[in-house]
Order: sequence, then structure tokens, then C-alpha cells
Amino acid sequence: MRTIANELKAQGVHVINFAAGELDVDTFDLVKDGAREAIEVGKNAYTPTLGLPLLRKQLATLVTKQVDVPYSDNEVGLTAGAKQALYNAAMVLLDPGDEVIIPAPYWVTFPTQVELAQGIPVFVNTKPHGYQLKASAVEQALTPRTKAIIINTPNNPTGVVYSNGELAKIAELALAYDVWVIFDECYASLVRSGFRHEHILTIEPRLKSRSVLVNSFSKSHALTGWRLGYVAGPAEVIKAMENLQGHTTSNPSSIAQYAISHALKHDEGKFITGVNKLLDERLAAAQVIVAEMPGVRLASPQGAFYLFIDISAHLGKRLDDVLVSDVDRLCELALREAQIALVSGAAFGDPTSVRVSYAIGADDVVEGLHRLRNLLERLR
Ligand SMILES: Cc1ncc(COP(=O)(O)O)c(C=O)c1O
Repeated sequence: MRTIANELKAQGVHVINFAAGELDVDTFDLVKDGAREAIEVGKNAYTPTLGLPLLRKQLATLVTKQVDVPYSDNEVGLTAGAKQALYNAAMVLLDPGDEVIIPAPYWVTFPTQVELAQGIPVFVNTKPHGYQLKASAVEQALTPRTKAIIINTPNNPTGVVYSNGELAKIAELALAYDVWVIFDECYASLVRSGFRHEHILTIEPRLKSRSVLVNSFSKSHALTGWRLGYVAGPAEVIKAMENLQGHTTSNPSSIAQYAISHALKHDEGKFITGVNKLLDERLAAAQVIVAEMPGVRLASPQGAFYLFIDISAHLGKRLDDVLVSDVDRLCELALREAQIALVSGAAFGDPTSVRVSYAIGADDVVEGLHRLRNLLERLR
């Protein structure tokens, strides 16, 4: 797909890229100031593996505030993005053959990391319930080999925010069956107007001893390339992660750490408020156009910045003599015929849908979705 996109771009075609998994805005001045200062004063050396002591202290305060459950410095750590936090969790918690429940559709990395740790992904389909994770579905998937469940809310790719009621029941199950909860809340600060990110630990603080919280500055501070995420969990789990990380990558970037430390000290939340306002506006414009698309269904876009559009009604149709045999074929056609890059739901374990990011320029959101609507209208 990237090759086709590049070919088209080289021909001067305006390709609209709905595929990016990151905000299109620049990070903010506080972060840049912190980084500049760190570079100026030569903060180039190794830091402790799980981060600067001051930053771990700040992080403990941040997590305590986010969750409303107390966390101390030795219960948190900095990682090279949430991806490393999740990898650490898989490697530290899983033994070969352990089962891990993963709600589907899922972020692509979850099952692969479980497999890297020789665990076995067990998928629970959320689609029948409007992409909400139901405790009853989780309960059905539990076996004596279940070691953990990965919960990602707000969800990538669906944009759905999991409900307080279901999370409460899932927390009860996790306690009753002694299962770890890996709670990926990378998009926690990106929630659409009228919705709220619910935290499983705020709902059930007793789960703290069985929870690993994963979060990131990638999306909340628009610095995906700087690679800074964080993890919170029981001290012995964090210690085990420190041992692992000490022999894999060591500390995340020192400059990124100083930058975030500076931002956390002075941030009053203006940046993220502005980003959410922008995303609310783009979403409102997008929803009008999606509502005009023939035969599609949209997952309720409550958080993150994705539209997850069910296009199954169009599979098996034709564009002239080209058969749209599956969702990948549709994505290829969308790129060739409409010059829009979508992500196939097949990548997320759902071959009936496509993912569209609305964290791209407002004009591109509108123009790109019009192109998709026109393409779908041409299918017979
Ligand atoms: C659900 C989810 N978790 C984790 C990550 C990884 O984020 P990071 O850039 O912090 O490694 C992503 C990135 O797209 C994501 O969507």
C-alpha cells in the first residue's frame, strides 16, 4: 500500500493518508523548552534504567492523580514508548503456554507480543456488543491457563470507550480468577466531548496488586518519535521489568525524559484541551459524511481519533470488472481509484471494517471521506 501511495505521490497525485496512528499537531513549547535546556546543559549520559528519580517521582504523582489510587516511585517506570511497557509486561508476567485474553478487534501488537513471550492469545469478539467489552464474553474465554487480559480503552482501532459497568464486572472476574489486567490507556487523554475515560482501578482499587497500567506521552503530548511511555504496577513486577529493560534497551532517551519532566512541572492542560477541541470538530464534520455513505456502520467514536467503519455490505461487489473480494482489496481500490490510504480491519483481526484516522488536516478529512463515499456509491 505504501508503495502504491508513493508511486501516486511521485506522479503529483494528492494522496490522503488516513492510516497514520498519531496526531498531526506539533508537540508544545514546554516540551521543546525542556529538551533544549537538557541539550544545552549536556544531559547526554545514561539515566537509571526506569528513568530519572525526579521523573519517577513526578510519574507516581501523575498516576496517583489519574487513577485515584496511591502509587509510589518504585511502582512506576519510564519505557521507550508504551510498546516497550507492554513488551516488558508480556515477558515478565507470562510463562510459555499461558493464555492471554485479547478483545478483538485489537491493536496489532498485542497478540504478537504475547506470542513473543510464548503465550497464547485468546480473542474475545467485541463486535456483537457495539465493540464494548462484555464481562460475560470475558468469562466465557477464561480457562485454568488464563494468565492475563489486555484491556485497551479508549480503543484502537474502534474508538470505543469501555463502560464503567462492564469494567467493574471484569475487575470482579479478574479478582475471582486471579488474572492479571494489563490496562492500556494510551488514549486516555483523548476522549470526545460528552464521554469519559473510565479507569478499572478507580472502579476497583483492590485490583492494584493484579494490574499493570500502561500509558504513553506519544499521543497525549504528540511526540510519538521521542519514544517515551510509562508503566505502573506492583513493585516486584516493576523491579522485574527493570531487570529486563536493563539488559535490552536500558533507559529511554535522557533528553525526552528531561523534556517531559519540565512539561509535567508547568503544564496546565491547555495543549490537550486544544487538541480535543480540534478532534471534536473534525469528528463532527466526518460523521456527517459517513452518515451519507451507503451500507456502512460506524463504531461509536468516543475516544482516540479513529473511525472504525464496517464495510461488509460492499464485500463481493464490483467496481466495473474488479471484484471487491475482501477488505484488503477494497483498501487497494480506495488507494488506486480514490487516492485515499485506509487501514484494513484485517490487520486488527476484523476483516469487515476499515480504520480511518481523523487526526489529519480538517480539509483532508472532509475531502478524503467524500472520496470514500463516492467510491462506495460506485460499487455494484
Ligand atoms: C493501543 C496502543 N497501545 C500502545 C501503543 C504504542 O504507543 P507508543 O508510541 O507509546 O509505543 C499504540 C500506538 O499506536 C496504541 O495504539
